Amino acid sequence: MPSLHFTNQVDATLIKIIEGGSYNRVAVLVDGNTRQLVLPRVQSLANAHVIEMPAGDINKNLDSLAHVWEQLQLGGMTRHSLLVNLGGGVVTDLGGLAAATFKRGISFVNVPTTLLGAVDAAVGGKTGINFGGLKNEIGVFASAAAVVVSTCFFSTLPQQELMSGFAEMLKHAMLDSESQVEKILGVDLNDIDCDLLLSMLQESLNVKMRIVHQDPTEHGIRKALNLGHTVGHAFESKAMNEGAPIPHGYAVAWGLVVEAVLSHMLLGFSSEMLYRLASFVKSNYGAFYITCDHYDELINLMRHDKKTIDGEINCTLLSTCGNPIINNTITTDNIKAALDIYRDLMGI
Ligand SMILES: NC(=O)c1ccc[n+]([C@@H]2O[C@H](COP(=O)([O-])OP(=O)(O)OC[C@H]3O[C@@H](n4cnc5c(N)ncnc54)[C@H](O)[C@@H]3O)[C@@H](O)[C@H]2O)c1
Ligand SMILES: [Zn+2]
Repeated sequence: MPSLHFTNQVDATLIKIIEGGSYNRVAVLVDGNTRQLVLPRVQSLANAHVIEMPAGDINKNLDSLAHVWEQLQLGGMTRHSLLVNLGGGVVTDLGGLAAATFKRGISFVNVPTTLLGAVDAAVGGKTGINFGGLKNEIGVFASAAAVVVSTCFFSTLPQQELMSGFAEMLKHAMLDSESQVEKILGVDLNDIDCDLLLSMLQESLNVKMRIVHQDPTEHGIRKALNLGHTVGHAFESKAMNEGAPIPHGYAVAWGLVVEAVLSHMLLGFSSEMLYRLASFVKSNYGAFYITCDHYDELINLMRHDKKTIDGEINCTLLSTCGNPIINNTITTDNIKAALDIYRDLMGI
């Protein structure tokens, strides 16, 4: 497990990590945006060998991976060198895989610069690239030597990216307790305080780490972290197929509402909490527009989700906030009823 640092003193923390590891060379992986907006703010990496990949999930591919390997070679990196991944989930996923495979594995440190990266992608040991038209098809589990979580880079992040990451924090809160959910529902997303966000991020990551620690390679309880994602991925794929992609976190927020409806129907999840959750999501994320004509398409997408076994729709649900139940099999009638209620709750 990596050492996790929650700090807005990124330089001082990185200097300690770099000196403590006695690395012979340091490289930093950035994308076009983090090279311009973030790297100049990190003095401790001023002498690092800079490797740039193009921004965006579409570039989380084999070409970019080969480019990073090549640059690691050109920069003279050895097994005693360090790669710092300075960026969002694309950079930490690809950089983690590059480091884990270069010379059979060199150390890497993740410095997430998006909220989604900080709350999810940079922590938990999953690395990977997209391949053959499939997301995260090639990758390994590899733990960063350290993860430096800071909110100081979020000032340049588009509001939509911030909201997208916040949905994963809502998910973690739902997996943790009612009191964590209350905290999240009380946040004004248009006016987020950086110090408050840093402390909330720490609580949120504790939830993820507690679960990952029990099941690092996702054979059991780690599936709880898929809450909201069975339905969310179907919304995301539908939007993608229509050429109008939606941010991942928005899909998760809407997926959380549908899966909370299923939790209410099948496991007695509180209706009061369901209404409050739906109203928070509706006022901050709007709604994903669907009619009953889209149900079959969505069900089909859920059946083809990577986590599905034998074509049965499989979901993590909650009996209460803090009590996830994994591996619920959902019938098509249940999904249709839940989507009906989702449309009612969202006023569509
Ligand atoms: N490994 C995991 O467990 C895990 C979990 C969730 C998501 N992911 C992966 O993470 C990726 C999504 O992560 P993401 O949302 O961070 O995407 P991203 O890395 O593409 O970042 C989103 C955009 O923000 C830009 N950006 C980054 N930091 C910035 C900053 N401080 N200011 C301004 N712009 C900035 C990026 O250049 C990019 O254009 C996907 O590839 C997904 O598969 C991995
Ligand atoms: Zn997610």
